[in-house]
Amino acid sequence: MIGRLNHVAIAVPDLAVAAAKYRDLLGATVHHPKDLPEHGVTVVFVELENTKLELMTPLGENSPIGKFLAEHPAGGMHHICFEVPDLAHAARTLTDGGARVLGDGTPRTGAHGLPVLFLHPKDFDGTLIELEEVKPDLQPG
Ligand code: CO
Repeated sequence: MIGRLNHVAIAVPDLAVAAAKYRDLLGATVHHPKDLPEHGVTVVFVELENTKLELMTPLGENSPIGKFLAEHPAGGMHHICFEVPDLAHAARTLTDGGARVLGDGTPRTGAHGLPVLFLHPKDFDGTLIELEEVKPDLQPG
C-alpha cells in the first residue's frame, strides 16, 4: 500500500543553525524557510536525491511541535511520511486492521498542499507516520 518515502521531518530548536549544517557541512540543497501558519511551523526543505527532509521549528503559540521540542530540547525526528495513491482506502485498510488514525480521521491539507493523515505512534513502534496522497501520475520520475 505505501509507496515512496516522501520526507522525514525533524524538529529543530534553531532553524537557521540546522539549515546551515545541512547546507555547509553536509552539502545538501537547502531551500529558504517557509512559514506555514496554518500548521504552526516554519519549515526548511532539504532536497536529497531520493527523498527530502523537513526541518521544522515552532511558529506562534500552540505549535503542534511545541510539546515535542519541550521534551526533546536538542531536537529530534518527529515523523516520517509515506506516499499512498488513495488516502481514503489507506485509512479504511488501517482502521480495519486495528491501527488508529489521529484526529477525526478526516484528511487535512499537509505542508505540500496535498491531503494527509497521521497514524498513532503507539501503533507503529513509537514512530509518528504521515500518509500523503500522491496520485501515481503526479509522482516525479
Ligand atoms: Co510531514
